[in-house]
Amino acid sequence: MQIGIVGFGHLGQFLVERIQKEGPKTGLKLAFVWNRNSDKLKDSVPEELILHNLLEFPKRGADVIVEVCHPRIVKEFGPQFLSQSHFLVGSPSALSDPDLDQQLRSVAKLHGKTLYVPCGALWGGPDIQKLNDCGTLTALTVRMSKHPSCFRLSQDLLSDWSEGEGRRVIVSGPVAEICPLAPNNVNTMAAAAIAGSTLGFSGVRGELVSDTALKDYHVVEVEVTGVDGFTVKTVRRNPAKLGAVTGNATYNSFWSSLLVCRGHGGRVYLC
Ligand SMILES: NC(=O)c1ccc[n+]([C@@H]2O[C@H](COP(=O)([O-])OP(=O)(O)OC[C@H]3O[C@@H](n4cnc5c(N)ncnc54)[C@H](O)[C@@H]3O)[C@@H](O)[C@H]2O)c1
Repeated sequence: MQIGIVGFGHLGQFLVERIQKEGPKTGLKLAFVWNRNSDKLKDSVPEELILHNLLEFPKRGADVIVEVCHPRIVKEFGPQFLSQSHFLVGSPSALSDPDLDQQLRSVAKLHGKTLYVPCGALWGGPDIQKLNDCGTLTALTVRMSKHPSCFRLSQDLLSDWSEGEGRRVIVSGPVAEICPLAPNNVNTMAAAAIAGSTLGFSGVRGELVSDTALKDYHVVEVEVTGVDGFTVKTVRRNPAKLGAVTGNATYNSFWSSLLVCRGHGGRVYLC
């Protein structure tokens, strides 16, 4: 499988290095790497694999394109990517825009390409999806708690935090409303809203919690409710560096997701 990587931040660098190291044994090969500032690629990526103009991605013939930069790139290029290749969307919070969500689903169907959504830090994603597909999912809540330095918020909701202040709920409500406030911190909630598509971004609830005690890990709590009193509650502790948006185990989770992307038809597939 030829892989195109779009974005060369933490996750992009991790994936490029891993494909370079483990590519032959996993059957993955780099088709191209793009970053908005291509100088950043010079020392790590062979010149022939650097894509300078993203509009020229079709010339590289990637089987799978992986977005690991920003929801804005999903909006701008996602439908074009999907018309040519399978597409692993690293910033699924972009799908909280119902028009884009619909457009991506239509393009996937039309071209027989798969829109892959990585579970990331969401534990039990496929189980939630099964419950959803049986029509027996009635409620879903995802709470993400991190040290305040780990949040990247688009509004000034947390600038006054001080070390030792403890726990504070930053925002609580439908995932659709939380995505624009914290586009880099809500991919797990977005994956939950996609797995639980009968509830969707407006029906699945999220909560972002700042907690100064969480210096070494992030916590993701998922509460699933089904019919006849069915409930599941999971608590995932993910070791993370202070100030890191992404917990350590999420990198490996993303790599496992990439290994799944071999084509599952024209649909959305949680992996
Ligand atoms: N689904 C998951 O499990 C998961 C896990 C971690 C990160 N993410 C998401 O993946 C993306 C990358 O994460 P990361 O940790 O590598 O982030 P990062 O900040 O380390 O890297 C982001 C890269 O994208 C570039 N970028 C930022 N905004 C851009 C824009 N508007 N246009 C073009 N390029 C832009 C930056 O220059 C940087 O090179 C983020 O959206 C993040 O929220 C998803």
